Amino acid sequence: MKQVAPAAQRNMDIVRDRLLEIVPETARDVLEISAGTGQHGAHCARAMPRWRWWPTEVDREMFASIAAYAADTPSGNLMQPQELDVTDEAWEAGSQPHRADVIVNINMIHITPWQACAGLLRGAGRKLNPGGLLVFYGPFRQRHVQTADSNEAFDDWLKTRDPAHGLRFVEDVAAEASRHKLSLSEILPVPANNLIVVFRSEGL
Ligand SMILES: C[S@@+](CC[C@H](N)C(=O)[O-])C[C@H]1O[C@@H](n2cnc3c(N)ncnc32)[C@H](O)[C@@H]1O
Repeated sequence: MKQVAPAAQRNMDIVRDRLLEIVPETARDVLEISAGTGQHGAHCARAMPRWRWWPTEVDREMFASIAAYAADTPSGNLMQPQELDVTDEAWEAGSQPHRADVIVNINMIHITPWQACAGLLRGAGRKLNPGGLLVFYGPFRQRHVQTADSNEAFDDWLKTRDPAHGLRFVEDVAAEASRHKLSLSEILPVPANNLIVVFRSEGL
């Protein structure tokens, strides 16, 4: 049965619209990491029938919701959910498609330990076709940009719940990404003090 996450409901139009702008015409396979309910996949797959959208989740309890969205996507290009844990050493070897043109990750790296971000970047470096894009959406910090009060408060709240969580610095993510031949390509401000941060694969 389809679940609805209010945050996904709020941001799915902007995610879809920015993806339509930044993803090149030639892209086909879009791998989503931490798909949650499946709302983003359904929304984006409908908007771009030539994409094959591959939703993945570490939490198998979300599979029924993702599958329900897939069944209700008339364009037929939202694939069945797959289990994927980015802290698994070789996740990129076990997930479909074999190579991706785009990897999308929405609202995950601030509510997981740094190890999850690092694992995502390591696998993305191997999984993306050369020139492929890794697209993060979520709240970030930047070293030379004042953090919004709402994001400071959110960061404090996250760290109170788990000191390993918290907003990531774009610069730290970029430094780790560069170890996997992923170069920072774009930083796009989006509503509610979130960012879309895009990396491009130089090919391993
Ligand atoms: C706040 S939810 C965001 C879900 C969805 N992207 C959205 O925006 O609605 C964070 C997600 O990260 C997933 N997650 C946590 N640890 C993960 C890991 N190690 N590998 C993959 N996904 C993970 C959770 O299962 C959860 O679905």
